[in-house]
Amino acid sequence: MDTTGKVSMNARAPKGTADMLPDVARAWEHLQRTAQTLFARYGYEPIYTPIFEHTEVFTRGIGEATDIVSKEMYTFEDKGGRSITLRPEGTASVVRAALERNLVANGQSRKLYYAGPMFRYERPQKGRTRQFWQIGVEALGMAEPSADAEVIMLLMCFFEELGIPRANMRLLINSMGDEACRPAYREKIAGFIREHDAELCEECGRRAETNPLRAFDCKNPGCCKVMAEAPLLRDELCDKCAAHYAAVKELLDGLGVGYEEDPSLVRGLDYYTRTVFEVQVDAGLGSQNAIGGGGRYDRLMEEYGGPATPGLGFALGFERTLLAMEAAGVTVLGPALAEVYVARVDDSLAGAAFAIAQELRDGGIAAELDHQGRSLKSQFKQADRLGARAVVVVGPDELATGAVTLRDMSTKDETRVSLDTIAERIKTLLG
Ligand code: HAM
Repeated sequence: MDTTGKVSMNARAPKGTADMLPDVARAWEHLQRTAQTLFARYGYEPIYTPIFEHTEVFTRGIGEATDIVSKEMYTFEDKGGRSITLRPEGTASVVRAALERNLVANGQSRKLYYAGPMFRYERPQKGRTRQFWQIGVEALGMAEPSADAEVIMLLMCFFEELGIPRANMRLLINSMGDEACRPAYREKIAGFIREHDAELCEECGRRAETNPLRAFDCKNPGCCKVMAEAPLLRDELCDKCAAHYAAVKELLDGLGVGYEEDPSLVRGLDYYTRTVFEVQVDAGLGSQNAIGGGGRYDRLMEEYGGPATPGLGFALGFERTLLAMEAAGVTVLGPALAEVYVARVDDSLAGAAFAIAQELRDGGIAAELDHQGRSLKSQFKQADRLGARAVVVVGPDELATGAVTLRDMSTKDETRVSLDTIAERIKTLLG
């Protein structure tokens, strides 16, 4: 209890979450608008799936042995005794929805995009939060390498459209193989890990049994040294996967997109087959330098009991993208909070000012007025603060003749304007 007798509460947002205050929220809306416009040019439609799903959607889709599923999920039992999980990513949900709602039956294809919060119980640090925001796309039904090249291009073009220079970005690509070539490789890596068990950390030792490919992701210097000598999947791809990968690279080469092949890029989700990719930015980001990533998941829908349906996509993280934009000197300016401020000389004119502001808003103009009984001087200050380009001054004498004074805030010119034409005059002034 505090001194007022009220029971004190923890008034802080939970660890790893952040309130999106107006400047950041404006940037988030800017990213969503940019995505809507750009993604539509590539034929994508929006989709919104629930923020929580039956836990199984993620355990089966992402894989039991991944860090996400084994350590990072927000899972709870709902009042009906069901195991529910806050989504840690969007792909599993979109594929679940596509199967449930028959979006890609009979060999159809569908391009879908989404934007929203995701949840992972990770150790918070710069660019890593427990609730974070992603924009993602999923292209379902397309197996051809051109679909891979298109998705990768879209991600790169999106970042460029936001003002992140190509030179700041590193595009990494790899192929994860498929059910024909990966199982044998997996065994090979597991054997390699067992052979080097003494030189590897405890977790990598365990990975031989659970998820051997993840040993490539370990940050422990000793493990990095050992894994640098490990056999690479690139050298063990079956003919079909090798041809698919070669075709993706050829298309990217044809478009002049620079990329680096990173044979140790395995990504943290088990659903991937064939192409995987990641975009990293060093400037302004610490160790969490992946601003976006994705890949192909041709077996995911079958994992859910559906028909064999190829798919691929990417997701980008809003917080890290914003850091990359800041490092590149890009600022997202919002629109002025008011184009026009309607000031009144005294409170007896409050009703008239209120009606004028409403009329201007009805006419499509962003108009603000005082609701706190401010003096005329402080109404002008407020107009300045909001970035208003003009102030309409409602005074008793002018109003009696059906007019107001219009002040251009940049030139300081003042003109008497009839109420009938005020909206038009303001539109001209705003250009
Ligand atoms: P992901 O690589 O796990 O892929 O996440 C994509 C992006 O989300 C990352 O590159 C990063 O920018 C951001 N991100 C991930 N975790 C956090 C975090 N804790 N805090 C802040 N940002 C984070 C996926 O989620 C896949 N669903 C991508 C995909 C779509 N693959 C195929 N389709």
